[in-house]
Amino acid sequence: MRKIMVLNAKGGAGKSTVATNLAAYYASQGKKVAIADFDPQESSLEWVLERNKNEELQPIHGVASHDQTFRVPRSTEYLIVDVPAAMHGDDLKKLVKRAETIIVPVMPSPIDIRACKHFIEELRSTPTITGKKAKIGVVANRCNGNSNIFLELDEYLEKIKGTKYVTALRDSNNYIRAVAQGMGVHELPGTSNRIDIAEWEPLIEWLDSKRSTP
Ligand SMILES: Nc1ncnc2c1ncn2[C@@H]1O[C@H](COP(=O)(O)OP(=O)(O)OP(=O)(O)O)[C@@H](O)[C@H]1O
Ligand SMILES: [Mg+2]
Repeated sequence: MRKIMVLNAKGGAGKSTVATNLAAYYASQGKKVAIADFDPQESSLEWVLERNKNEELQPIHGVASHDQTFRVPRSTEYLIVDVPAAMHGDDLKKLVKRAETIIVPVMPSPIDIRACKHFIEELRSTPTITGKKAKIGVVANRCNGNSNIFLELDEYLEKIKGTKYVTALRDSNNYIRAVAQGMGVHELPGTSNRIDIAEWEPLIEWLDSKRSTP
């Protein structure tokens, strides 16, 4: 089972958006997917409940934050974990023990980018990550043309082994439309999602390659 964790210490960076869209993408490809929502807000869990009402969509198994046993069906091929913001220290260490791939979404503001660097430093100093060499992929979120602002972050990440700036996602109403229906942007009907799908490609390619696993 492939375990992919989505986290960032900053709230509202797009963790649940990336987690749900990734889960929907793999499910739409016929994979058996589970999403574990460790955020008491349970946005991803609500999304999955909405999704599973629609028989035309491939179902996804949802695990609630309060479910300490954290069991997923044996047949699960992809487990996506949505981690709440502001998780640090021992709690963070305990959680990332399970991760082999970590996706960090970050928004295009100098403050968020600086906070993201600090967070990645904290992640890299976590013994379970250093030891197992879990890979970290940064996803710029809600970019709208100002992805240049990430050049500096990219240069910084290039120096840290096992860490990569993977893709930039635009600010798009398609994410709002999709989440309301328990879908991911890949599953929206019509062609308005063409650009979004193209922006997801580098992330999926990275996740499907050996570069994103220990
Ligand atoms: N690329 C995008 N385009 C448009 N809207 C977006 C995009 N990414 C996220 N959003 C919206 O921004 C809001 C915050 O995103 P999201 O809930 O994914 O962040 P989060 O990191 O999970 O937040 P929290 O820390 O509260 O859990 C949501 O309403 C979401 O629909
Ligand atoms: Mg969230």
